[in-house]
Amino acid sequence: MTVRVAVIGPGRLGQALARRWVEGGFELLGFLGRRAGSAAEAVRFCGAGRVLAGPAEAHRAHVVLVAVGDQDLAAAVAAAVAAGTPRRCALWLHASGFHDLAVLAPLAAHGCRTGSLHPLCPIPDPRTGHRLLAGQPAVLAGGPRSLRLLRLLATRAGLEPYVLGGLDRAAYHAACALAANGATALADLARLAFAAAGVSGTGLAQRFATALARAALDASAAAGERALSGPVARGDAAVLAAHLDALGRADPRARAAHRALMAHAVRMAEAQGLPAERVAALRAALAAEAPRG
Ligand SMILES: NC(=O)c1ccc[n+]([C@@H]2O[C@H](COP(=O)([O-])OP(=O)(O)OC[C@H]3O[C@@H](n4cnc5c(N)ncnc54)[C@H](OP(=O)(O)O)[C@@H]3O)[C@@H](O)[C@H]2O)c1
Repeated sequence: MTVRVAVIGPGRLGQALARRWVEGGFELLGFLGRRAGSAAEAVRFCGAGRVLAGPAEAHRAHVVLVAVGDQDLAAAVAAAVAAGTPRRCALWLHASGFHDLAVLAPLAAHGCRTGSLHPLCPIPDPRTGHRLLAGQPAVLAGGPRSLRLLRLLATRAGLEPYVLGGLDRAAYHAACALAANGATALADLARLAFAAAGVSGTGLAQRFATALARAALDASAAAGERALSGPVARGDAAVLAAHLDALGRADPRARAAHRALMAHAVRMAEAQGLPAERVAALRAALAAEAPRG
């Protein structure tokens, strides 16, 4: 049987995932948006499906992805239920890392299958997201009636499915934001720090920041906490103090971020056996006030 999918919410994730499903062999019924024109843009991007006139049309699909923003999810579900009786066997899913399945309860009450599929992937725009999604993990949630189809939806999109019990959703989503949005913000601070240090030339500060960050993340993937290198790993408090001074002169926000991150790096180095007097010297450098002026 061909699986027919509808998407409510033709935004970044909705477009990126729908295009991967089209490429994975699913039939795309279409998109329902809020802004005039957003669903038509999504249809163009995916090269499939059509603009749906209202939530009632989504009831014709076997699978409905509700890919609206987290704050709009409950209202979109309520509108879908108000628009007509959902098919009992249809699977309705969201892609939110923040919400559990309670937000889909009005659909479950109509006998629908419900679930969630959260890709661990930043999707800043549909095209980049479509590219980056390949091979990323996706956390699935759903009852036994939903999980088989959820796994198929994940694998056909090129994602690696994981089913985890007992997740604290807010804490899980905070960890996602720390890893993804934190890395993006850190890369930007590093770009600004390179530029302030005199690294000029078109895009060179950006290239230096992301090349180094990418290599460090590769090292972390291979060696975990053993990947720590640099002055803190060596226990060099004088260099750490000089770094904090230099960053403070260029941009106090970069100094504050470096100080917070290096406080954790010192804990990592200590756990790996850095001698106590070096740990104490590093902590003293971190505790020093920023120079004035
Ligand atoms: N972006 C990411 O990096 C990412 C990664 C993993 C998971 N997610 C999850 O994916 C979901 C969507 O996030 P996003 O970043 O794709 O958001 P987004 O780009 O802001 O897209 C949200 C879309 O929902 C539409 N919408 C809002 N209310 C609607 C309604 N009542 N009916 C129909 N359409 C409605 C908006 O339509 P208009 O444009 O017409 O206003 C917009 O196209 C969220 O649950 C988020 O947590 C996102």
